[in-house]
Amino acid sequence: MKRLSVQIIRTKKELRTQITEWHMKGLKVGMVPTMGALHHGHLSLIREIQKHVDKVVVSIFVNPMQFGPHEDFDKYPRSETADIKKLDQVGTDLLYAPEVGEIYPDGFLTTVSVTKITEGLCAAKRPGHFDGVTTVVTKLLLQCLPDVALFGEKDFQQYTVLKQMAKDLDMPTEVMCGRLIRDDDGLATSSRNVYLTPEERQIALEIPKTLKQIISEIEDGTQTIEESLEKGTQHLLDSGVKEVQYLEIRQSDNLEPLTRTFGETSPLLARILVAAVVGKTRLIDNMPIKIFF
Ligand code: PAJ
Repeated sequence: MKRLSVQIIRTKKELRTQITEWHMKGLKVGMVPTMGALHHGHLSLIREIQKHVDKVVVSIFVNPMQFGPHEDFDKYPRSETADIKKLDQVGTDLLYAPEVGEIYPDGFLTTVSVTKITEGLCAAKRPGHFDGVTTVVTKLLLQCLPDVALFGEKDFQQYTVLKQMAKDLDMPTEVMCGRLIRDDDGLATSSRNVYLTPEERQIALEIPKTLKQIISEIEDGTQTIEESLEKGTQHLLDSGVKEVQYLEIRQSDNLEPLTRTFGETSPLLARILVAAVVGKTRLIDNMPIKIFF
């Protein structure tokens, strides 16, 4: 069997030793935090960050703190052996895969919390979710101290929150965004897509199609924003989507609601964002949209 070239580390102490060694040699380190069940979206982040740094660390940690009590923490897909193979194939230098006690030792009492942009959108139905994300990412970034960390555009609110957190806390890591990767049929690639039956997947495909339809109606000016969003929501429900948790357009840079004074002379670059439940699976997606006032 071919020897793996990806180094596997499970403790923060060993991680720090390796990163310090790389930094002492003047090498730039990049980190891609994940929860495993790796797919093309994750691998594209690794390929992207390789362009900016000398050494790439990927973490795999299914973070209990970001799952609600009735969410899929126990059921979340775990496939470490297959993940390691994929990481090796794309030339990852180091996998950091800590046990829960390495991140949350007994007596752990701290929460890192970002306000305002963690209200609404995904937070409305997932209270406490972003506190779980910001706390674990703070820990991962402090344990690794990478020069750059890359997060996917797929979780656009998460990226926006983490960028704000790194800035507010003067973290020595540059937070960057990697583009959203889709499967061949247009569905945003996600570890949770494995939950979908073939019939549910057909329904789920209406999500990106509806976003595109709304974008063209609004950019062409054939519908108002309100009409188009309402029609899109109804179309998703008529197609078999069980629940549309949100379908909204927000300002791209800070996720604030659109304001009419902003972008009066040139189009405002905004985001259309959606979360919808198909069968038992919650799916999210987003796309850029230009708003002409
Ligand atoms: P996870 O869902 O495993 O995603 C890890 C990273 O991959 C995130 O930055 C996410 O935005 C990105 N990603 C997922 N699907 C993608 C796609 N289709 N295209 C591009 N990027 C994609 O997000 C998390 O884990 C966790 O919340 C984490 C940040 C690791 C904290 O626990």
